[in-house]
Amino acid sequence: MNLTRREMLGTSAAFGFGVLAPARLRASVADPVLLTAKPSSVQLVPEGYPKTNIWGYDGKMPGTLIRVRQGERITRRFVNELPQASSVHWHGMRIENAMDGVAGLTQQAVAPGETFDYDFVARDAGTYWYHAHTKSMEQVARGLYGPLIVEESEPVDVDRDEILILDDWLLNPETVQLDPDFASQRDRSHAGRRGNYIATNGSPETELPVKRHERLRLRLINAANARIFQLVLSGLEGWIMAFDGMPLDVPQTVEDVFLLAPGQRVDLFVDVTAAEGEVAHLIKIEDEEGYSQAAFPVDGEHPTGKRRDMPVALPPNPDMAVPGIEQARRIELHMEGGAMGRLQSAEFEGGQMSSRQLAEANQFWSFNGIVGMTETPLASVTSGETVRVEIRNDTAFPHAMHLHGMHFREVLDGGELGPLRDTFLLFGDEVREIAFVAGGAGKWIFHCHMLGHTASGMATWIEVT
Ligand code: C2O
Ligand code: CU
Repeated sequence: MNLTRREMLGTSAAFGFGVLAPARLRASVADPVLLTAKPSSVQLVPEGYPKTNIWGYDGKMPGTLIRVRQGERITRRFVNELPQASSVHWHGMRIENAMDGVAGLTQQAVAPGETFDYDFVARDAGTYWYHAHTKSMEQVARGLYGPLIVEESEPVDVDRDEILILDDWLLNPETVQLDPDFASQRDRSHAGRRGNYIATNGSPETELPVKRHERLRLRLINAANARIFQLVLSGLEGWIMAFDGMPLDVPQTVEDVFLLAPGQRVDLFVDVTAAEGEVAHLIKIEDEEGYSQAAFPVDGEHPTGKRRDMPVALPPNPDMAVPGIEQARRIELHMEGGAMGRLQSAEFEGGQMSSRQLAEANQFWSFNGIVGMTETPLASVTSGETVRVEIRNDTAFPHAMHLHGMHFREVLDGGELGPLRDTFLLFGDEVREIAFVAGGAGKWIFHCHMLGHTASGMATWIEVT
């Protein structure tokens, strides 16, 4: 899949720790809320076919919904009942570095049978998700992810709020079990591991009955390893309200195809315009064909009738300005490698290697001539400092770059700033620039969210002091 941006768009309450527990019980540890990663099996394909073996949080896929109000605390005791070490990352959350869940960088991987206590405050409202961040290429593909929703402190004016997690699965069509080859050289050196079976919320046929004129908030999350979803609405009038959890200043009418890259989220408000008896759809476009990603059969009419009002913007999250981009510190990130790329050699684990030697080590991608994580960061910056990163995609593939712990804005022509994002899609041969204010102190990984790319070179980190 070697599409350009133009081709792609051209188609048209957590419980607190024993607050009420009597003092005499405090000596024995109050019951923590558990989040247990374990093998399980789910009906991923239609009834009548076998179940698919997955790894899921609390044995579910998607994992248990975590839903809190802005400002609340999230505490989970992660319990690892997997046959591999693991850790949990809270994608898009501005939290302390020690809670970020990146094995080998912010914590040690949690060994099978062990636990780790995560504890942080949900400072920003929005749509987030959590997922494994140890061997993510394999663990996320096996189903280790779930939705994390932080509600605005005031209720939002919609009739309903629905979460839609989009994913694709690479299944053996005979057995409906996951393809166990997580080291595929082809996947890693091309567009990543793409599935042959598409699902929403772990089901091939997601149906949400609606009423005509109802206004829904749809929280879309792309949990796929590598698939970029091209989406369009039918029988729904919609507005993009937020990208990656962060509200737009002005809601954007959905007129055409919009993209959702791995790791990204979009919050839509949609009004049901399809008539009684019809079915509205969220449609996925692939090879110029449309497929229903989620269906909304219309049954009855909403009592308020058609809304006349455009939605008002969601309230902004605190301290999101990116000031002083003129004087900002500048960093360059040069991406190379992959099939049809020009990478000759790069540094890997301290030594210079030819692309052939790299391929033997199943490594294919480099940032600034370096493959994978290193002892020294891409840059060391001070908390509160504005930083610009120019990203040059010198490869033939799109990449979805994700920065942990802070949101950024694209620096557009003329110095204008784009919307806040935590995951940013760059197509082959594009050069684009982002800017952000360095957040909390710590080691923040900056990587491609095509997880096969992360596993084969596309990861670096930024140190904030
Ligand atoms: Cu959603 Cu580093 O990950
Ligand atoms: Cu990539």
